[in-house]
Amino acid sequence: MTDLVDAYIDANQQRFIEELKQFMRFPSVSAQQARDKDTRACAAWLMSHFRKLGLEAQLIDIGGQPIVRAGTKGTTSRRVLIYGHYDVQPEDPLGEWKTPPFEPTIRDGILYGRGATDDKGQLFAHVKAVESLLQTEGKLPCEVLFLLEGEEESGGDALPRYVTQAREELTCDAVIISDSTMYDADTPAITNGLRGILAFEFTVKGPDSDVHSGAYGGAVANPAMVLAQILAACVAPDGRILIPHFYDAVAPLEDWEREDFRRLAFNDEALTRELNVPRLHGEAGYETLERLWSRPTFEVNGIFGGYQGQRSKTIIPASATAKISARLVPHQDPAKTRDLIFKHLHAVCPDTVRLEISEFGMSPPVLFDVSTPVIRAAEEALRKGFGHEAVFIRCGGSIPVVSTFVEQLGCPVVLMGFGLDSDHPHGPNEHFSLDSFCRGTKAAGHLLRTI
Ligand code: BES
Ligand code: ZN
Repeated sequence: MTDLVDAYIDANQQRFIEELKQFMRFPSVSAQQARDKDTRACAAWLMSHFRKLGLEAQLIDIGGQPIVRAGTKGTTSRRVLIYGHYDVQPEDPLGEWKTPPFEPTIRDGILYGRGATDDKGQLFAHVKAVESLLQTEGKLPCEVLFLLEGEEESGGDALPRYVTQAREELTCDAVIISDSTMYDADTPAITNGLRGILAFEFTVKGPDSDVHSGAYGGAVANPAMVLAQILAACVAPDGRILIPHFYDAVAPLEDWEREDFRRLAFNDEALTRELNVPRLHGEAGYETLERLWSRPTFEVNGIFGGYQGQRSKTIIPASATAKISARLVPHQDPAKTRDLIFKHLHAVCPDTVRLEISEFGMSPPVLFDVSTPVIRAAEEALRKGFGHEAVFIRCGGSIPVVSTFVEQLGCPVVLMGFGLDSDHPHGPNEHFSLDSFCRGTKAAGHLLRTI
């Protein structure tokens, strides 16, 4: 027999997609102050959308981008909190988009645009699941409370602060999040671990301004060169991080964890092809999933300094900067790891230049127990929504507020992502499969009925 809620989702799919496109048209780039107005307008759009669906909704302003809070009671006393983020990463590099990042476009059943998968499309599946339940059954089977933040992508702390302040009134039976990935396009997944993160930038400063490389070359240190030397002193060519004591706290992988990872039969060759690289690279002695999910990293996200224009310009740049993010794994403490890194940067930086560091935020890694009834309910919901058994995975990315939910609310957290790493989140031509959007909406609806 056709399920009435699923039938409603099928019948209204085109409208859901049009609404998602409206949501994606806001350039809610939280990292860029010039976009603050758009980010706020996006939050206001969400609030009024919730009100139209019959939920009580408000914007919570406690500094930083507003938090959208919306909820409605259910027929039982059970209560779930649904988290998502309406902010997106910068669209850069703009020239590489086939269609403009904030003009969502469908090609071959795939929706392209910034935020399609991370996280507007995924969170909107939950919004539409709630609408579908309300429209077919009149009331929700459990109370739902949405908390949607606008600064996940830029390390803001408004939501962690709010959750800590309001923990008493936010108590719930589970937190549900779709801001991660499936195992592959047909295999839904429950994510039981995320890496933590530490983001910062450092600048090597030389002369007060760019100077002639012939007139001064050989007499002063070149900041771009020093920057390269510092970076080379942080990570060895074989992928091992060279910062003293960096690995001290890292929990070694247990045999059963390695076995669980191996059972997923990850295809290195497919990844090599997907990324179009000559071969994969990473810390020696670990397989790809082990490196992605359970080993820390130190990555350069951007590197700047000196002349970037056409042909050549013979200067010694005044300064050079690297933006860095390090991924952290159990049991690395973000603040302690930051101290180790900064100490090392100062130790290896020569005294011929000045070193300046600014921090962009940090969050600890998380690892969940999956033997809870809430996880069983999520497995069942994913099976119903996607027509396939879910597998357990970890993800290499980070969702900073998750550790705050764990610490402050003490309830199970369900990470059931509908995206794919190959959806190009954070890159040009980000996209989301409309089939996953539809199946994810069904899974989200089933979860509210099963949990
Ligand atoms: N959705 C991602 C996190 C993610 C990525 C989960 C890949 C699973 C797989 C999230 O929106 C994100 O990108 N977070 C940032 C946080 C950072 C800016 C503090 C990240 O991981 O870089
Ligand atoms: Zn993201």
